[in-house]
Amino acid sequence: MIRQAIIPLAGLGTRLLPLTSVFPKELLPINGKPGIEYILEECQAAGIKEVIFIISKKKKMIKNYFNKNIFFKNIIKKKKDKRIKHEYSKLKKYKKMIKFVYQNKPLGTGDAVLKAKKYIKDKYFLMMLPDDLIVKTNCSKEMIKIHNKNKCSVMASMKVHKKTVNRWGIYSINKKINKNNFYIKDVIEKPNIYAAPSNFAIIGRYILPKKIFSKLINQQKGKGGEVHITDSIKKLIVSGEKFIGHNFKGKYLDCGTMQGYIKSSIEISKV
Ligand code: G1P
Repeated sequence: MIRQAIIPLAGLGTRLLPLTSVFPKELLPINGKPGIEYILEECQAAGIKEVIFIISKKKKMIKNYFNKNIFFKNIIKKKKDKRIKHEYSKLKKYKKMIKFVYQNKPLGTGDAVLKAKKYIKDKYFLMMLPDDLIVKTNCSKEMIKIHNKNKCSVMASMKVHKKTVNRWGIYSINKKINKNNFYIKDVIEKPNIYAAPSNFAIIGRYILPKKIFSKLINQQKGKGGEVHITDSIKKLIVSGEKFIGHNFKGKYLDCGTMQGYIKSSIEISKV
């Protein structure tokens, strides 16, 4: 059973400057709602009970968004506005699910996940990257189904244009299970076009085994001087852990870039 999710939120959001100079990118509204709420909705509907937010001191505003709602409460008492009341009850539910853990230096996704080590209870957990929104399907729910059936790790993926492989973690296939699911042979973080073993890119949804922490503890910095989760996944595969790449059915929205962020509001308004 997958009951916990880790969400790294300590990144600087430089690709969205100047919007992110004072404001965390995960709170930027997408069609009238902070991006992070889409992620939380997906978690809740996938049966996740606890969400571990990895934040930094600089991004305390995220904690305030969920915790400081006395102001909200007073308004509701006076106004009796149905919409606000509904939003308030949602935030109250989320607050109960969220645990905050700090990563004050942005040393990469691998380092962020490692910060949650002592809170992970089960053999497997979900990890979600908040820049990656997937609409028209609940990708996490689908991945949990695949995990329950195969009892192994799962990563979301999609085919990308060959010219863009250096933007993603790329994997090679060991064996095809069916049209959308593959056993993974190897992964490489942001390879150049010549080193890429395929054009299957990892998208920000991972079901990972607790034993990844034993690899993360000793993980050296990789591309761009950051500790990458992909490099520890590679080590797990070498040591015999099975990983399935799952090509999801919904639509992918890359909210970490300005172009993608603008597009995401338009796309979500159509759903
Ligand atoms: C991260 C991962 C990368 C993955 C990507 C998906 O990169 O390191 O393997 O393909 O997310 O969005 P980032 O977007 O943090 O550069």
